[in-house]
Amino acid sequence: MAQNWTPEGWKAHEARHLPDYEDAEELAQAESTLASYPPLVFAGEARALKEDLAEVAGGRAFLLQGGDCAESFAEFHPNNIRDTFRVLLQMAVVMTFASKRPVVKVGRMAGQFAKPRSAQTETQGDVTLPSYFGDNINGIEFEPEARRNDPMRMVRAYSQAAATLNLLRAFAGGGYANLRQVHQWTLDFMGRTPWAEKFAETADRIGEALDFMEACGVDPATVPQLQGTSFYTSHEALLLPYEQALTRQDSLTGDWYDTSAHMVWIGDRTRFPGSAHIEFCRGIGNPLGMKCGPSLETDDMLRLLDTLNPAREAGRITLISRFGHEKVREGLPRLVRAVKQEGHPVVWSCDPMHGNVIKTGTGYKTRPFERILDEVKGFFEVHRAEGTHAGGIHVEMTGQDVTECTGGAVAITDERLGDRYHTHCDPRLNAEQSLELAFLLAEMLNLEANERQADAA
Ligand code: PEP
Ligand code: CO
Repeated sequence: MAQNWTPEGWKAHEARHLPDYEDAEELAQAESTLASYPPLVFAGEARALKEDLAEVAGGRAFLLQGGDCAESFAEFHPNNIRDTFRVLLQMAVVMTFASKRPVVKVGRMAGQFAKPRSAQTETQGDVTLPSYFGDNINGIEFEPEARRNDPMRMVRAYSQAAATLNLLRAFAGGGYANLRQVHQWTLDFMGRTPWAEKFAETADRIGEALDFMEACGVDPATVPQLQGTSFYTSHEALLLPYEQALTRQDSLTGDWYDTSAHMVWIGDRTRFPGSAHIEFCRGIGNPLGMKCGPSLETDDMLRLLDTLNPAREAGRITLISRFGHEKVREGLPRLVRAVKQEGHPVVWSCDPMHGNVIKTGTGYKTRPFERILDEVKGFFEVHRAEGTHAGGIHVEMTGQDVTECTGGAVAITDERLGDRYHTHCDPRLNAEQSLELAFLLAEMLNLEANERQADAA
């Protein structure tokens, strides 16, 4: 257990990107309501994820983490949850098939609401209002009342997270994720696109493998690993009053866990040494992510690793690099080398989204798909050169047929961005682009698998 730590100890540290609430009484009421509600996850599940991530850290598995940039109250719908879940399943199947290794699936779902913003205010015409900080803090509508920070929004976010998690658990364990259903996971609108066809081929081959096993007397219907899957949730632990209210002491071990999700991460803007977010996260037993952008100094990173993982437990820390496609090849090696030299057992994951945002002439924030792919390639190149495991991918994506990132096989042009641009924050990969990315990852993972085989021979 962490030394000298309490769930509210973060309050004595520098907290950036936290909202100011006008009414302290109202905040206290929302916090005590949340504190009286049941935990969303059980500590044992967070420990199971940590064990799965230890496999990734050891080079024996791969991490797939994805979902919305920001979940919203408006997009809360069972179909949206199902569609994101099934694209993640599709991606995982493609990657497992290629790598012959397990893929650990973690959604940016059931709690990913709060957003750090570069500007505190937004101006439209001659009106200036507070920025939109995520649906658990204020509303996206450009009106004074909507932009007011409202603590009761945390309670609504909790309810939405609980319902989302409930459906995810049902899908993961109730038959939807059964490998026999692999053909059914294709989304209708993906009908005749090249990647949907390629997916159907993989699905055929999986079907054949299952038929073969059945003929050999292994009944897929009775093998639990084929009937369902493990699926975990995660979000940025940004809104500390919410995270603290859901932090509970595990009755089995006496350790503290943030029961709002299985895994939480610390954003690039709040991971500075001495930050309130680091202080909070060091005391919870959950697996932790930490975003690593170009401004992260090597020494600071090592100090942060010592603070967050003094026992050097494998699976505890996932370092999520987000350099941008132009900087990854030059910037990432120094971090990878230092971590290796210090012997910290981390998962290295690649977020190819947050360093690749541009504004188009038409005013949309977008991410060109070829830059995303280029950062992923750069990430694999660096790890290959350093002899470390390229362990995971962290993406903002949705199962919806949105037009938010340009490019991809079904090319989305700058002009078409306005067709279905629905995100509440950053642009997401749509289902088709997500699958295309999975096939690119599959190629790279397959290369690794072949090298492993050659080494073993
Ligand atoms: C995010 O993941 O949505 C995010 C804000 O990323 P970062 O902290 O890397 O900027
Ligand atoms: Co984002």
